Amino acid sequence: MTARPICTRIAGTGSALPSRAVSNAELAQKLAQRGVETSDEWIIARTGIRQRYLAEPELSTAELGMRAARRALEAAGYDAGMIDLIVVATSTPDQVFPSTACLIQARLGAGGAAAFDVQAVCSGFVYGVTVADALIRTGNHRRALVIGAEMFSRILDWNDRTTCVLFGDGAGAVVLEAADKPGILASRLHADGSQASILCTAGRISEGAVVGDPFLRMDGQAVFKLAVNVLDASAREVLGDAGMTTAQIDWLIPHQANVRIMAATARKLGVKEDQVIITVDRHGNTSAASVPLALDEAVRDGRVQRGQVVLLQGVGGGFTWGSVLLRY
Ligand code: ACO
Repeated sequence: MTARPICTRIAGTGSALPSRAVSNAELAQKLAQRGVETSDEWIIARTGIRQRYLAEPELSTAELGMRAARRALEAAGYDAGMIDLIVVATSTPDQVFPSTACLIQARLGAGGAAAFDVQAVCSGFVYGVTVADALIRTGNHRRALVIGAEMFSRILDWNDRTTCVLFGDGAGAVVLEAADKPGILASRLHADGSQASILCTAGRISEGAVVGDPFLRMDGQAVFKLAVNVLDASAREVLGDAGMTTAQIDWLIPHQANVRIMAATARKLGVKEDQVIITVDRHGNTSAASVPLALDEAVRDGRVQRGQVVLLQGVGGGFTWGSVLLRY
């Protein structure tokens, strides 16, 4: 008898946000005190963002990630001790090392589970899901937590209005488990390191001091153009792998950077706007946390139903991008 191939499915989702939402008007007022000019109108018109959650100083990436993970475990009906793999996507870890995944593992009490971070900026969650899916399909792991957790407010230059109005803090998580049918139908990852400079935080720590620029810098227009093109190509790639067409997509959950990027991607793919899950208006861009935050919201409010086809898409610094096509 030949063994049936192992597949991977999402058993539960969860998310967590800091307690304080900051509206565009409040942010604009705060920035004005530093002589930085912006407005609610400009931010909404260019990005669709109305507010973002900003973490209080004592909140850590690991704590927020752990809260999202707990909710995903509850939704799946699993104890932390049943998890044998933890993958955390983050570009804003609490420490240089150990990984945020190890810090979350300790908080959850999931000792013994393999734990590591992936660093693919806003594509981090689709990278993490793809890696965990592959490890589960080897048969060596059975249940994984994949967490996107970010504190981008910590790397923003509040004197740079072209970036500081765009980002927020948050975390989202899924429990992935081995299953006998998918689940994850196809996934593809890509990067183009030659574009590193269009979106980066170039600084590092050396000999006890920050060397170089510790803040996020972005060429917004270059990112915009690249993002729309790669998201379209990447969607078609995974659909081709799965032998499916855009008409079979029930829900598109792209990285939540900007409503204009999402609308342009949906238009290119021929997906209707009401099939696109949008949270950027309330969360801002939460980098690797944005896709699992949006997925969790849509699962909990009943839009994403079991059996439906969902396309998750990440794009961000690196330049990195990728897609995961799944049957929820
Ligand atoms: N408030 C008011 N005015 C502003 C602000 C602000 N916060 N920021 C920039 N401006 C001004 C500029 O100074 C410029 O003024 P000027 O014409 O007098 O020179 C004007 O607004 C237009 O600036 P642009 O940069 O041309 O504005 P654009 O329409 O390109 O919008 C934005 C900027 C929103 C960043 C856009 O390029 C974009 O969405 N890019 C995609 C990048 C993105 O979303 N990145 C998120 C991270 S990347 C990722 O997650 C994939």
